Amino acid sequence: MIVPQDAVSAADYERHFHLRVDRGVAAYIGGAGADGITQQANRAAYDCLHLMPRALVDMAGATAASHLLGQPMAYPIIVAPMAHHRLVHPEGEMATAAAASMTGTWMTVSTQASVAVGEVARATRGPLWFQLYAQPRPADTLTLVRRAEDAGCRALVLTIDAPVNGIRNMEQRAGFRLPPGVTTPNLEGLAGDDFVPAHPGSPVFQGMLRTAPTWADVAWLCRQTPLPVLLKGIMNPLDVEPAIAAGARGIIVSNHGGRTLDTLPATLDVLPLVVDAVAGRLPVLVDGGIRRGTDILKALALGARAVMVGRPVLHALAVGGVAGVAHLLTVLQTELEVAMALTGRPTLADVDRTVLHGVAPGA
Ligand SMILES: Cc1cc2nc3c(=O)[nH]c(=O)nc-3n(C[C@H](O)[C@H](O)[C@H](O)COP(=O)(O)O)c2cc1C
Repeated sequence: MIVPQDAVSAADYERHFHLRVDRGVAAYIGGAGADGITQQANRAAYDCLHLMPRALVDMAGATAASHLLGQPMAYPIIVAPMAHHRLVHPEGEMATAAAASMTGTWMTVSTQASVAVGEVARATRGPLWFQLYAQPRPADTLTLVRRAEDAGCRALVLTIDAPVNGIRNMEQRAGFRLPPGVTTPNLEGLAGDDFVPAHPGSPVFQGMLRTAPTWADVAWLCRQTPLPVLLKGIMNPLDVEPAIAAGARGIIVSNHGGRTLDTLPATLDVLPLVVDAVAGRLPVLVDGGIRRGTDILKALALGARAVMVGRPVLHALAVGGVAGVAHLLTVLQTELEVAMALTGRPTLADVDRTVLHGVAPGA
């Protein structure tokens, strides 16, 4: 696969992606819940926020490196967990992981990956996290945890914002169906939805939701594994104390890229509220709408320790395969460095709310 010459930003990869994939895949990957209001809000929040530079700062020794959960991190960028990479590339998550490790980027493998986590781990030397969807049977959740541990994953990301699917009208209109051959090998041998017995009443309330996890299950999970458990999908600062009490080691402010409940606020807008509630006790990450290095700088300024990037990675995978994803990740890294250089912030420790125009330092 050849990277198009005019693909120089995440938006360019998105444009090329739409020229190459069919309507169903475009709706599944590019689409969002219901009317896409949250998806748009995620982006708009970054565009509305402006940067305030400092001039003539000594940038000697500048670096975007940091630490997260005790591990050194070259750039504060992590590939977000996304299902079914084989929809857009025959090697699926193995290709994404190879590109991530080439660029020193951490990657999160989804429960619904189209390649088994052990196989992804064998395709890369880079750090992997595993995203966990709690299964209806606790024993099945533990099987997934052991598969991630055996693969050498360094953290578990428990997604808590999708106990039921959102209203995916865009996918429905496009008639999206998973093609034969794109499977979910991490879930092989597990009971999954079949375990939830048919029950009279609402298919929402009497369906999957009956076995959906609660705070007690998070506490149980944290006791089952030596791996740190991060909670993905926290939007409300009121959920911070229960998360800490349950044993979470990190929080990912996320609205699932606008794919679950539409009309949730932008993640960037709630990030400072969650960061203030956490008060330095845990690392806080954020995702949703990050397309530029300046977006990453803004998220870090509002207290994120790192960001997760979702759709742009699949756009680049579809357009340029391993080279495309490696290029996209390098573009984001370079854009972040340029944003740090031009705002006069030599290290991530120098990035605080004063880099934002019109945001009071303590606000
Ligand atoms: C095609 C697709 C599949 C996804 N699958 C998962 C998943 O399996 N687990 C999960 O926690 N989040 C999943 N997400 C959400 C992402 O992890 C992330 O929260 C979101 O994409 C971030 O927004 P962005 O795409 O605007 O960067 C998925 C997102 C997309 C676009």
